[in-house]
Amino acid sequence: MASDRNGETTDRAPAEAVGTPAVRFAHESEEEFARILDFYGISWQYEPRTFPLRTDGDKVVEAFTPDFYLPDIDTYIELTTLRQDLMTEKHRKLRTLREIYPGVEVKLLNKRDYLRLLAKYGFGPPSPRSIEGVHRVLVSAPQIRRRVKELGAQITKDYAGRTPVLVGVLKGVACFMADLMRQVSLPVAIDFMAISSFDNVNGGYVRILKDLDESIDGRDVLLVEDIVDTGMTLNHLLTYLRARKPASLKVCTLLDKRARRLVDVPLDYVGFEIPDEFVIGYGLDYGQLYRNLGFIATLKPGWMEEQAAQAK
Ligand code: IMP
Repeated sequence: MASDRNGETTDRAPAEAVGTPAVRFAHESEEEFARILDFYGISWQYEPRTFPLRTDGDKVVEAFTPDFYLPDIDTYIELTTLRQDLMTEKHRKLRTLREIYPGVEVKLLNKRDYLRLLAKYGFGPPSPRSIEGVHRVLVSAPQIRRRVKELGAQITKDYAGRTPVLVGVLKGVACFMADLMRQVSLPVAIDFMAISSFDNVNGGYVRILKDLDESIDGRDVLLVEDIVDTGMTLNHLLTYLRARKPASLKVCTLLDKRARRLVDVPLDYVGFEIPDEFVIGYGLDYGQLYRNLGFIATLKPGWMEEQAAQAK
């Protein structure tokens, strides 16, 4: 939190910043703050800029270097303790900085404040229990929002003049479908199917647990999926839907785990290609949990094995 140092300028991609603290922090609280930012997928820079406050000729005699810069919200953050003697000095410097640089947004935060700030910008925080087992955020809530908006715009353009039916497969698609359909500026119908997942006991074939409510004969169908992994589920569904004679049939998936593909399936719209990792959140579950997280994350290494051992 020393404020008069020249720090390194390191713009960090949130996902890769986790667990690889290449930046040398002056204080533990700064490192903790950086970890919270990483967890929520917010990009940050550590001490990227020093603001001269007072000069004597060419010489800078007083300067201020805020701890963090958050490019997504164009805001500098200075972390503080609640020690009154330090606070008074910092407040004085901040007042000067705001006078000299009126366009620069700097926020002074103590620990309670910064959790509130994160909540205000829609990054959480979720309760510790709801994120037990979560390792790191792979796709953050703002990234999802941006991409869903782009997909909605593309679909709107491609289906102009038509009334498509968005078909979702329960339950993983719940969040994506709810957000995507509101980004499509066309008259659309929605319908849902539910299928059994593979079960070792009763044999490995896909069963339809809930069929479409309406006929899709002659309709433009857009199958909306949460994730395509091996492609076997999607392949089965496409065969099933094609037999119902839609005028057209396309696929929109939020996530594509391409590295795991066993069956080649056509994907018309893809939100994000992700690496070969099991992911949860934003509708996706592990043991029916985590669907309510606003972001997509990985599980802690060994978490599944631990849970399976406990269930025995
Ligand atoms: P596929 O048939 O192997 O492509 O699997 C597709 C289905 O498996 C998805 O609709 C999900 O329900 C589930 N699935 C695959 N990968 C994941 C994951 O990483 N997290 C949660 N569910 C997954």
